Amino acid sequence: KKSYDIAVIPGDGTGPEVIAEGIKVLNTASSRFGFNLNFNYYDFGGDRYLKTGETLPDSAIDELKKFDAIYLGAIGHPDVKPGILEKGILLRLRFELDQYVNLRPVKLYPGVECPLKDKGPEHIDFVVVRENTEGLYAGAGGVLKKGTPDEVAIQESINTRKGVERCIRYAFEYCKKRHKMNKLTLCGKTNVLTFAFDLWERTFYEVAKQYPEIEVDYAHVDAITMWFVKNPEWFDVIVTDNMFGDIITDLGAMIQGGMGIAAGGNINPEGVSMFEPIGGSAPKYKGKNIINPLAAICAGGMMLEHIGEDKAGKMIEKAVMEVTGKHLKSLAAGKMGFSTTEVGDMVAKYVLDIKE
Ligand code: IPM
Ligand code: MN
Repeated sequence: KKSYDIAVIPGDGTGPEVIAEGIKVLNTASSRFGFNLNFNYYDFGGDRYLKTGETLPDSAIDELKKFDAIYLGAIGHPDVKPGILEKGILLRLRFELDQYVNLRPVKLYPGVECPLKDKGPEHIDFVVVRENTEGLYAGAGGVLKKGTPDEVAIQESINTRKGVERCIRYAFEYCKKRHKMNKLTLCGKTNVLTFAFDLWERTFYEVAKQYPEIEVDYAHVDAITMWFVKNPEWFDVIVTDNMFGDIITDLGAMIQGGMGIAAGGNINPEGVSMFEPIGGSAPKYKGKNIINPLAAICAGGMMLEHIGEDKAGKMIEKAVMEVTGKHLKSLAAGKMGFSTTEVGDMVAKYVLDIKE
């Protein structure tokens, strides 16, 4: 029997509640499909930081490298100044574990209310490949004359040929394997950010030569937000830099029905990858058993596909579709018609019951 070691970081706010439902569903899937999941819990997050002053001990990074995957709830605490936990835990993990792709599917599931007029599940099914270790997130820059009327704040975007190329290659490979429209769109801002996106554009069309079967396309980031709303059916796979990827995937989450269902994977194809619901810690819903656990459950499904348990991962997705299609009134916290734990129970039951 195959066995996988998973590091679990439930984190802050509603993170632990949604992760508990995710684990419930993962355990059901592993028993049905005949493999073992060993979960090791880590308490990184706001509460630990407030108690100890520590975000992520150095030793943790090496320890986490030994796992088959990391399952993360949410990072962000109302009593901690914004930036400390995000940079000290989430971004540090992405960077130090070299998870250079942030893979974010945007898919409208059956029964989910879409804010776009006349759009249904047949129109909204694409994936954003967000570069995850460079760009404006690299932390390059500084501040001059801080606090004076002459203050200058500089935040630079770092784009390396190697970093850009590996992300673009991943996107082409992913698009080829996905085998849907065989279309890859580069999202950038070549008309203004002429240094960074010249590199992206040249690299994109160079790599494209090795994928004649993939149709390539380009869209400026501002225009793409318009197309997401007007013509989401145009997209199959989109590749973009860290900051633009951050922004457009929140819009993507909204057109797929909201943060309650948006999942993502921080991928290092050669190392350890980390899977998370992208919605954040939602502290105001903490402890109420009303938050939607589907994003965390979907992230768990992505994690299973990533470690090679494809059938189990796909079954989780099918089970989620049954629940959205047949049961939930809404995806919003408190409006689902069911509690957090009930939604987890329903998905788990479908994972056991659906015929293969
Ligand atoms: C995300 C989040 C993070 C990001 C924050 C919490 C640092 O918004 O995963 O999209 O900006 O990448
Ligand atoms: Mn974001």
